[in-house]
Amino acid sequence: MNLLVVGGGGREHAIIKKLRENPTVDTIYALPGNGGIAADAVCVPEIGAREIDKIVDFATSHDVGFAVVAPDDPLALGCVDRLHQAGIPCFGPNAKAARIEASKVFAKNLMKKYGIPTADYRVFDDPARALDYLRGDGVSFPIVVKADGLALGKGVLIPQTLAEAEEAVRTIMEDRAFGDSGKEIVVEEFLTGPEVSVLAFTDGAAIRPMVSSMDHKRSGDGDTGLNTGGMGTVAPNPYYTPEIAAECMETIFLPTLAAMRSEGCPFKGCLYFGLMLTPRGPRVIEYNCRFGDPETQVVLPLLKTDLLTVMRAVEDGTLGDLDVEWSGGAAACVILASGGYPERYEKGKVMTLPRVLPENVTLYHAGDRLTGEGELVTSGGRVLGVTAAAPTLREALRDAYAAAGTVEFEGRYLRTDIGKRALAALEG
Ligand code: AMP
Ligand code: GLY
Repeated sequence: MNLLVVGGGGREHAIIKKLRENPTVDTIYALPGNGGIAADAVCVPEIGAREIDKIVDFATSHDVGFAVVAPDDPLALGCVDRLHQAGIPCFGPNAKAARIEASKVFAKNLMKKYGIPTADYRVFDDPARALDYLRGDGVSFPIVVKADGLALGKGVLIPQTLAEAEEAVRTIMEDRAFGDSGKEIVVEEFLTGPEVSVLAFTDGAAIRPMVSSMDHKRSGDGDTGLNTGGMGTVAPNPYYTPEIAAECMETIFLPTLAAMRSEGCPFKGCLYFGLMLTPRGPRVIEYNCRFGDPETQVVLPLLKTDLLTVMRAVEDGTLGDLDVEWSGGAAACVILASGGYPERYEKGKVMTLPRVLPENVTLYHAGDRLTGEGELVTSGGRVLGVTAAAPTLREALRDAYAAAGTVEFEGRYLRTDIGKRALAALEG
């Protein structure tokens, strides 16, 4: 059978490598894919992940038996709806369900209506009213200001003072720094506590949470600098104990699925719970309607059950009959980025990769391309994710960093403290 994967980053590479393990899989097409993914799939760089018409045409003309839509944009644009109309089974939520990520106002109102624990909030569609509110009594700082729509993970500002908050409202609503995503904003209570990412397979009724993980969103060591798409991940997340997992299942995961069903948009696919473990209990910081990046690069290597089997069960609504198994042990992913990311950076740097890698290490390509001469060069901010799986987190980190040291390109930048906090939490 031929498969199609929409997307072209490290997350998609991790999904493709895992799908490859199924012996019934013939060709995997990646739209657009990237330079490194080309070693594992047939990439179609001419078709971008937002070009829904072209994606559907390609799928119907290439005998695609199953499709996976990985990024948020095509999901929000209804790529799954369109593939279904064309008779192609696929993994991912339809556009209506993808609103759980694509509209923070939708997500917050859903949580309020169904009593799912999250930060207290207000919604504004008028900057003057937002400013009035922020200047009022009873508002304390820091506070959190979020653009309603998709903003490449950058639409969240955490002003420390009233002046900064006023600036945030203007940036998002008046200057439209994140485009139409900023028509409405959510202003919410600032929460504290360790953050946990939990990705979960769900067919709308049954849910199979994956191994928990921890992202490192800031660009610099010690969680300093600008927010990025993610500079590294570890799994499992040591703060996410079995007791907390059980509590999240009861108070967050199952109620969210029920809420989506009640709203007439059952969620099928990978639902990502961004959680904060506050002193008052776990709270939802955000939902994503898709696999996280780079969470996927540490979670999928620990999946023992065949990924295509799980994805088909999600599509068929039979996930409740399936046991999804995970290997013990841990995984760590260190992102190699272009110097300057997440701000301005140069592209086109020639990459040198090690000829042989230790068996427990995988390179997930995120932002590179092949030149006409077949040379691999950088083409994005996040270039590579170096993942190691091992019996313990300490070993996984050691092996990921050792392998990261054998990859070269000009300006290569990495954080040196991925997993440091997780290790401290584990080992005391
Ligand atoms: P998001 O794009 O919603 O994941 O937000 C980006 C980051 O902002 C999160 O990973 C948190 O670190 C932080 N954040 C978002 N909402 C809150 C909140 N209510 N309180 C504290 N930090 C937050
Ligand atoms: N790593 C965070 C995300 O995928 O949104």
